[in-house]
Amino acid sequence: MTFSGLGRPFKICHMTWTTMRITGVSKPRWRKAATAPGCRFLCVTPADPPLTGERYRVSRLPFSRVTAQDLNFFQQELPGRVVTDEEDLKSHNIDWLRTVRGNSKVLLRPQNTHEVSEILRYCNERNLAVTPQGGNTGLVGGSVPVFDEILISTALMDQVISFDDVSGALVCQAGCVLETLNQYLEGQGYTMPLDLGAKGSCHIGGNLATNAGGLRLLRYGSLRGTVLGLEAVLPDGSILNCLNSLRKDNTGYDLKQLFIGSEGTLGVITSVSILCPRKPSAVNVALLGCESFDRVLQVFTLCRDHLGEILSAFEFFDASCMKLVQKHLHLNNPLPANAFYVLIETSGSSTQHDEEKLNDFLVSAMDAGLTASGTVATDQSKIKSIWALRERITEALAHDGYVYKYDLSMPVDKLYALVEETRARLGSTAKTVVGYGHLGDGNLHLNVTAESHTDTVLAALEPFVYEWTAQHRGSISAEHGLGFKKKDHIYYSKSREAVQLMQKIKYMLDPKGIMNPYKTIPTADQ
Ligand code: FAD
Ligand code: MLT
Ligand code: ZN
Repeated sequence: MTFSGLGRPFKICHMTWTTMRITGVSKPRWRKAATAPGCRFLCVTPADPPLTGERYRVSRLPFSRVTAQDLNFFQQELPGRVVTDEEDLKSHNIDWLRTVRGNSKVLLRPQNTHEVSEILRYCNERNLAVTPQGGNTGLVGGSVPVFDEILISTALMDQVISFDDVSGALVCQAGCVLETLNQYLEGQGYTMPLDLGAKGSCHIGGNLATNAGGLRLLRYGSLRGTVLGLEAVLPDGSILNCLNSLRKDNTGYDLKQLFIGSEGTLGVITSVSILCPRKPSAVNVALLGCESFDRVLQVFTLCRDHLGEILSAFEFFDASCMKLVQKHLHLNNPLPANAFYVLIETSGSSTQHDEEKLNDFLVSAMDAGLTASGTVATDQSKIKSIWALRERITEALAHDGYVYKYDLSMPVDKLYALVEETRARLGSTAKTVVGYGHLGDGNLHLNVTAESHTDTVLAALEPFVYEWTAQHRGSISAEHGLGFKKKDHIYYSKSREAVQLMQKIKYMLDPKGIMNPYKTIPTADQ
């Protein structure tokens, strides 16, 4: 059993990173790539994916096509902010995973709610379909058009409107980048209640629209709890103002919840009010190696017992993930090779108290033989290096080949059995089959890579993965949403009655179906 650089018992605050093998980790390349057209990540990939309509054999619905007159209208409304150049549009037509491709001919860049309202009012009258787009980091093909839907980007809606440093309520426009908001808040002693690997590119409006979970849901809960209010423009151009900043408000239906997780199908979220916690002054991160998934589960139980209120993340990933980040991103594993890795983060307000608790927990985990090796970091740059091993798995997978991505929730004791069964089922058809995720939330990311997209691999995976998940009473989308790719699988997780009610709500708000068509909710006749 080895804990790098330390004998037992040890004091976390005395650990020196020089005894470990991690060296500096560069800023994830995809962060830039996800926002900048023609950037490194997008350029190194050889071919564009086929058009979505062709690969998935979808028929275009009878929406109007954009005319010169329409472009004139948009130019008048948004002078200099109407993009029609094919090269400039390219990165907005392809998703982050490079698995779907639309053919939009125009992208609009409004700066405020009024402009979004004018655009939607016009598009609704003209029967022009639209796709709202934030940072385009969505993983289910929801953020790019399927055909020629007009793209409405929130990139220029990036202003903080107000911040109350007593209550922690932040009000901002929907296009604020998550990481930028976090930096803004940190200057005032606060932090965002969510964090995810795409933070450098994703917009807060996109986070709400997908109801993103991320790495600290365990601590701060879901956006359904932390979002205090929002403003959205409905498909007919009317503005729904639910932008309050109250902790408590039981006056009628909670309409904001309809838009959280609606994936651009009910309207465009234009502003957000969100409750932010104080920035923790003491943060520790531990990376542990475990010999089996059973041990990972035991570490989780022990960890909750010992760390209780200071636990802020409990993530796991398997040996194949570690190999991928080493191979494609040249990250260093500070531990000897293990079958599984657990990343534990604590955040609190007392360094000494938190370190003592973490120390006790680690000693207990080692005494019980639950972990074979481990390392602890307390300073910011080292913490980042450990987090990179987990956060950048998504990026490493994208380097490995075509990614078949599944985002499932189910009882934690079942999580890894699905990965093992999938691996056995696919054999050499797949390049890599990996499992990682937010174990503390019962959320597994099962990912399979192959040289390319083939119907054979897809048929081996679906409906197998969905049926397996449904049999274990899980959800086929824990946090990424349904978008284009998972829409028709909604019935594995929701009843016919529930889907019918969703269809009625969609029809009530968007009778012409112009908002992000072909996404999230199956059409009523299915
Ligand atoms: P986009 O990708 O642009 O859009 C996503 C969806 O929301 C689309 O349907 C779009 O039409 C809609 N939309 C966007 N903005 C608006 C708006 N203002 N109004 C209405 N609809 C809108 N997700 C997690 O849950 N947890 C994670 O840990 C996580 N990690 C990730 C790590 C990486 C490296 C990547 C690439 C993605 C990750 N994701 C994760 C996926 C996640 O959904 C997104 O990163 C993020 O929430 C989407 O924000 P975005 O601004 O990029 O939205
Ligand atoms: C993550 O947890 O890393 C994200 O949800 C992205 C992914 O699933 O790859
Ligand atoms: Zn995730």
